[in-house]
Amino acid sequence: MWGGRFAQAPDAIMAEINASIDVDRNLYRQDIAGSKAHAAMLAKQGIITAEDAEAIARGLDAILGEIESGRFQFQRSLEDIHMNVESRLAELIGPAAGRLHTARSRNDQVATDFKMYVREAAAAIDAQLADYQRALAEKALTHAATVMPGFTHLQTAQPVTFGHHLLAYVEMAARDRGRFADARRRAEECPLGAAALAGTSFPLDRDMTARALGFARPMANSLDAVSDRDFVLEALAAAAITAVHLSRFAEEIVIWTSPLVGLITLSDRFTTGSSIMPQKRNPDAAELVRAKAGRIIGALNALLVVMKGLPLAYQKDMQEDKEGAIDALSALSLCIAAMTGMVRDMEPDTARMRQAAGAGYATATDLADWLVRKLGIPFRQAHHITGRIVAAAAEAGVALHRLPLAAMQAVEPRITEDVYSVLSVDRSVKSRTSYGGTAPANVRREARKWLKRLDKENPARKEDPTR
Ligand code: ARG
Repeated sequence: MWGGRFAQAPDAIMAEINASIDVDRNLYRQDIAGSKAHAAMLAKQGIITAEDAEAIARGLDAILGEIESGRFQFQRSLEDIHMNVESRLAELIGPAAGRLHTARSRNDQVATDFKMYVREAAAAIDAQLADYQRALAEKALTHAATVMPGFTHLQTAQPVTFGHHLLAYVEMAARDRGRFADARRRAEECPLGAAALAGTSFPLDRDMTARALGFARPMANSLDAVSDRDFVLEALAAAAITAVHLSRFAEEIVIWTSPLVGLITLSDRFTTGSSIMPQKRNPDAAELVRAKAGRIIGALNALLVVMKGLPLAYQKDMQEDKEGAIDALSALSLCIAAMTGMVRDMEPDTARMRQAAGAGYATATDLADWLVRKLGIPFRQAHHITGRIVAAAAEAGVALHRLPLAAMQAVEPRITEDVYSVLSVDRSVKSRTSYGGTAPANVRREARKWLKRLDKENPARKEDPTR
């Protein structure tokens, strides 16, 4: 297709490193849609005839059918998806096919195709994240009052509720969705019509093609249009942060399902066995979500490094934008699906959670707060007194709420029986009513707020009318 001035065929290794068809065949739908929009615009502008445009459209539809039914013969010698499609078009409709590439270059073509692909992938990921949020919020509502240990430094810190913990991930997913939405908003300008780099002498209607392909408007600078890959970088940055969130939760699932911890169980549907140790139940899906964050972060890094030294405008380096990005976005999609499945599947061991929540003197802060509130002791001093009471309980080998009043009064004589009212884990979580705190009433309110918001966003998904 470009061999006019060449006398020899490329070396095999030249052809091998140059070909991108194995990757960019993923863009066949976008490529065909882009070509149809371009041909229709060329006809409307009187640049090609209506008959040629119709023949091109019919030929492209036939090619779409061939690809979707697996009959299309992709050829590596034709390098990429653009030339594979155009070459087949020539076979199907003859010379009119040669008019399709008027006022267009593969440079604006590939930027347009991939921008459409990334926008669609980001929209699909957004829908998946909404479902993930729904699964989390539903489970949070069920477990609004289920106490569990909250951790800092992975040491038992203060009791929280399981629902509260799950809602933390709903908030993260909301920010993730915001980042994808933001990336999509900035990617609503269409590169098509920038041609190779300088624009074209033909009287194009770039607004027409932009709108036909779902963009808001054409990109304003032809050099920028063919050399910009911000839309990929931004989607990958959003994907990398999302993957980090999923990975952190996956790590918690691995910890929580360990027999050493035992806070939750996953069913047979989300665990695997060991080929040698019959007792094992491995959280492989969570481990793989944790691991796949690596390749998603890697794809962002790889493309940043590819782009950072490129002068304007198109450079062949940019052909390397697709493999990592397509892989990363599909890995992320799989990770979200797996996490959503695990959230719906996981069951907390509520007795174990309650027991672990009370272990390690987790209500010590409640005792210190009581000293502040009831006896007017400054917090720093209350902290010290509580430390001595915890030491006494440790010495006696009992939990705080089992330590006799006399033992507490030996440290601070003004302590009364009333102190026991704050020392249970239930009292502890119930008292955390500050905005954003773990009190079951807060958790219920927040979970309902999210479910209502998600229903409103997508009424078709409304599941439980009794809620
Ligand atoms: N396969 C190329 C890519 O993915 C298409 C653009 C090629 N342009 C060119 N002038 N060789 O970037």
